[in-house]
Amino acid sequence: MKTRNENRRSFLMKGAVAGGGLILARSCLAGIPTGGTRESKSRQTRDHANETLNTIHSLRTIHGNFTEREIPDETIQTILHSSVRAANSSNMQSYSIVVVRDRNTMHELCGYSGSCLLLYCVDFTRLKECAVALGDSYCPDTIVDFVTSSINTALAAQTAAIAARSLGIDVLFTNGIHRGDMGRVWKLVDLPREHCFPLIALVMGYPTEEPAHKAGRLSGAGVIHYGKYRRPAKPDLDQLIRQYDDPTLHLGLNDSWSSEGHKHYLDWLFKSWLRREKPTDRRTQMMELLAQSGFIEQQGG
Ligand SMILES: Cc1cc2nc3c(=O)[nH]c(=O)nc-3n(C[C@H](O)[C@H](O)[C@H](O)COP(=O)(O)O)c2cc1C
Repeated sequence: MKTRNENRRSFLMKGAVAGGGLILARSCLAGIPTGGTRESKSRQTRDHANETLNTIHSLRTIHGNFTEREIPDETIQTILHSSVRAANSSNMQSYSIVVVRDRNTMHELCGYSGSCLLLYCVDFTRLKECAVALGDSYCPDTIVDFVTSSINTALAAQTAAIAARSLGIDVLFTNGIHRGDMGRVWKLVDLPREHCFPLIALVMGYPTEEPAHKAGRLSGAGVIHYGKYRRPAKPDLDQLIRQYDDPTLHLGLNDSWSSEGHKHYLDWLFKSWLRREKPTDRRTQMMELLAQSGFIEQQGG
């Protein structure tokens, strides 16, 4: 079995175009450092403490090192019933959740395994088939359908993560499903070719060891804009770069960026992490599969 650090290392080494993109988007949005000191923030949290907030603030990712202990089926059911309570556009629940309990299948799907994997898919198949059964016409085949359904799907997935954590179960979100040959995901769990797209996997289980620290977050100016959007100015950027470099804030993915020859953590992020596996061809397999799913136009040659 891999140790936590080996798992973390293989996550770092494997790279992720989609995951990297997400991190990039988040860091670009972040802009300026957190609002308030750490003391004032923990006071804010304490002043409004309740069980829900405690659960949300206790969320952390287990980077693959889950034990062999199984989550009882009833607990999975509780998590699923909470997951589908998430808000969703027109209450159409345009997603599907595939529950995978076979650890080998989990590993093949995303490179990780735990006690249970929930594969969250953008999915209109159910609705489309209802329309056909009624003789109605329904074509959820635009990018708007895809974006709206992605929102529904992600909200349901995050709700599952919160429910799981409230029950003492830890999670890992992974877009490992988008690495390598993505066609395997359709094959492994028999996804429909049209109107369905696997968006994110949620691996759940019990950790072999506690994470060394909780990852930090930016949550102030630059992330949150009051009234109007404010672009970060040079001093803001300098402060932001310093924050990423500060090892006590735990904002980074990799603690060894300096020994790897980088001046700043963000140099490592941009030069090393985000450049990994970047496709040179704009017609990626993801675009082809999105086209096959019917959500975007087929790309010209
Ligand atoms: C879309 C997405 C993809 C992710 N993919 C991975 C992954 O493949 N491997 C991994 O170890 N963590 C993955 N993560 C977890 C993030 O690395 C983690 O949420 C982030 O570093 C913050 O840490 P925290 O969740 O412990 O606060 C992913 C998270 C998201 C939302």
